[in-house]
Amino acid sequence: MIFNGRVAVVTGSTQGIGLAIAKRLAKEGVKVVVTARNTEKINQVVAEIKSDGGEAIGIKCDVANREEVKALGEKTVEKYGRIDILINNAGINRDSSFKKMTDDQWDTVIENDLKSVFIVTQELVKYMESNKYGRVINLSSVVGLSGNFGQANYSAAKAGVLGFTKTLALELGKKGITVNAIAPGFTNTEMTKNIPEEIRAKMIADIPVGRAGEVEDIAAAAAFLASDETGFISGITLNVNGAFYLS
Ligand SMILES: NC(=O)c1ccc[n+]([C@@H]2O[C@H](COP(=O)([O-])OP(=O)(O)OC[C@H]3O[C@@H](n4cnc5c(N)ncnc54)[C@H](O)[C@@H]3O)[C@@H](O)[C@H]2O)c1
Repeated sequence: MIFNGRVAVVTGSTQGIGLAIAKRLAKEGVKVVVTARNTEKINQVVAEIKSDGGEAIGIKCDVANREEVKALGEKTVEKYGRIDILINNAGINRDSSFKKMTDDQWDTVIENDLKSVFIVTQELVKYMESNKYGRVINLSSVVGLSGNFGQANYSAAKAGVLGFTKTLALELGKKGITVNAIAPGFTNTEMTKNIPEEIRAKMIADIPVGRAGEVEDIAAAAAFLASDETGFISGITLNVNGAFYLS
């Protein structure tokens, strides 16, 4: 894959899918900004990337906090002079049946999974516009397409991310910026590790390729969409779900 001296910001990149994307991009020669809320974990990831021969810096940032996000953009540009790739990966879930779902569960998920994508993209994309080049990749989810029991908040947020992605693809196309979404299916991470074993086994049995997703599967898709060669792909949702849900 071609990455011509690119600089990437990967939100929520100290574990799970974000970490795998940060490491994959660093291996491809991309300068990576590792960002999350825990400084200790950020420093550890930056050190790992550097010891593997990659280039990275760490910047602490809560993606739901506009001031911190603004500072993330400023510090990145201060260090690397540009932002070419934005991976909106940070996300949470607060599952509950619809009947029992509280305002707090609803608001927290919308704030961290949908409004955050709006804030981060708005604050960072301006640096791409000035270079007439950019790749924005938003982590949605298969449940944003299919819905899921107990995830009215999460599936609404992730469906919102898809509408947001399509709209930005239209608005930013002429500025050399592509905007795409990835909809992972069931992937082994901290987010899914507490699913009871019998439910996990049933979910995996329903995946036609016969296994759960691994973080590297999602990172490969992200690297593809982030590469220089995909300038004519914009506004799509790339399903990475082992044929679990076909749309
Ligand atoms: N694991 C799956 O099966 C799966 C499936 C579909 C979509 N996704 C999506 O992929 C993305 C990554 O998920 P994961 O499974 O790696 O989860 P994870 O919980 O392992 O990692 C998420 C990361 O985001 C960070 N984060 C959350 N809120 C944040 C905030 N406000 N500011 C900064 N960082 C924040 C967390 O601290 C964590 O480091 C999420 O958007 C998730 O919704 C995951």
